[in-house]
Amino acid sequence: MYERREITTQERIQQQQYCEQIKSRIAHRTHYALVDTYGCQQNESDSEILRGWLVRCGYELTDDADKADLVAVNTCAVREHAEKRVLGNVGALAHKKAKNPDLIVCVGGCMTQQQTMREKIKNSYRVVDLVFGPHEVWQFPELLCKTMERRGRRGGHGRLIAAEPSEGVVAEALPRQRDSSVKAWLSIMNGCDNFCSYCIVPYVRGRERSRRPADVIAEARDLVARGYKDITLLGQNVNSYGKGLDEGVDFPDLLAALDKIPGDYVLRFMTSHPKDATDKLFRVMGESEHCAHHIHLPLQSGSDRILREMNRHYDRAKYLEKVAAARRYMPDLVLTTDIIVGFPGETEEDFRDTLSLVEEVRYDAMFTFIFSPRTGTPAARMPDPVTRAEKQVWFDRLLDAANRISGEKHAAYVGQTVRVLVDSQTGQAPYGLSSRTKGGRLVHLAGDKSLVGQFVQAKITDSTTWALYGELV
Ligand code: SAH
Ligand code: SF4
Ligand code: F3S
Repeated sequence: MYERREITTQERIQQQQYCEQIKSRIAHRTHYALVDTYGCQQNESDSEILRGWLVRCGYELTDDADKADLVAVNTCAVREHAEKRVLGNVGALAHKKAKNPDLIVCVGGCMTQQQTMREKIKNSYRVVDLVFGPHEVWQFPELLCKTMERRGRRGGHGRLIAAEPSEGVVAEALPRQRDSSVKAWLSIMNGCDNFCSYCIVPYVRGRERSRRPADVIAEARDLVARGYKDITLLGQNVNSYGKGLDEGVDFPDLLAALDKIPGDYVLRFMTSHPKDATDKLFRVMGESEHCAHHIHLPLQSGSDRILREMNRHYDRAKYLEKVAAARRYMPDLVLTTDIIVGFPGETEEDFRDTLSLVEEVRYDAMFTFIFSPRTGTPAARMPDPVTRAEKQVWFDRLLDAANRISGEKHAAYVGQTVRVLVDSQTGQAPYGLSSRTKGGRLVHLAGDKSLVGQFVQAKITDSTTWALYGELV
């Protein structure tokens, strides 16, 4: 049994003190910090906290690696491809360090939480000064300060390899430098207890733990008050929100409570495991004023046999029932999904089951991945006779279907007028604005940058597989 541990005010104040120490160390000139993020929204959200700390420590933020005095890489371990990219980019920092020996390189995130990876970074990536895990983001100033002290000592390139398995941490009120002034991440829980047989997340992100509803609601109120218009609630499986808390609040209850906050804004959430997406959730979504009629409901496979091997706790029929129920409550539902192709032992017949389910459900968008064995997960030990080339053929077939369906769904918007939130400028004339429908579809819009942060009516004039194009009405 893991122990849930809430970070105390005292511990937070201590981190502030470390910020002050760092500030005085770097006060003699402007120091720049770059935070490079890989992986999911949960990591994006953690990176905002890292940036928040760095600003408190006196750093200016930059996107320019040549200018940076500190680079923090927030890593993802979900697939091998992501890990390789990270290692390549961290290795390349050696050149920058050769030019600037004072450069501090920090590697955090999910990769570092794996013992073998930690060893690899320690032994083969000497450029790295500090390794810390996702459970230690709250105490980044302390770790950075200690790293600086070690480096300062005579005769030593002192490095700090942290990444402790302190899985139960819940930290409130950390500083946060948000990337956007329109869209905000709102993390409601951390970790995952589902142990899907292919997935590394439960091993690196630790046990599921929820923030208290009062804290989540207070943060949402503050975001709305500060003018944020698009709030995405984050968790690996938001549907198990509230387990382990005394409040007796489940995810639909939380959603209903958040919906009561007055204002013109959209509420979204990621991700929803199909096994515990309930009628109550769909009803609350359908009845709510602010909640987007969008669900990301990862299917992973349409084959009952593979779903069992994946430890997903639903079958094809059950999944289809959930989709039908969601569409009953929200006839305008936008549905997106994740699918893994080439799970160990998958056959042509299993693959066809996936394809036929995709044709039946007709997703608005799909994220498709080729199975990547993750050391320590059960699936990595399963016999996997199908070659990569054969998996690629399946993958391409699935992608063709996904693109065709998305293209058709997008084409159906043409001629309609929809309400969209303008979230940023793209600078790509004539469609200089990026906006989203309430269901989360991307609309490239012609218009002035003064509209960023506003809801406007857009007439959809054109579409592609990936996006819609529109003009103001
Ligand atoms: N918590 C989220 C998923 C996080 S990982 C959920 O349950 O939906 C995002 C996606 O990456 C997963 O949905 C899955 O499709 C994919 N994925 C995870 N592990 C993978 C692996 N070992 N190989 C290939 N894809 C994987
Ligand atoms: Fe991974 Fe499954 Fe947890 Fe999602 S629900 S993070 S796929 S173990
Ligand atoms: Fe990657 Fe960690 Fe997210 S492994 S997908 S960054 S939880």
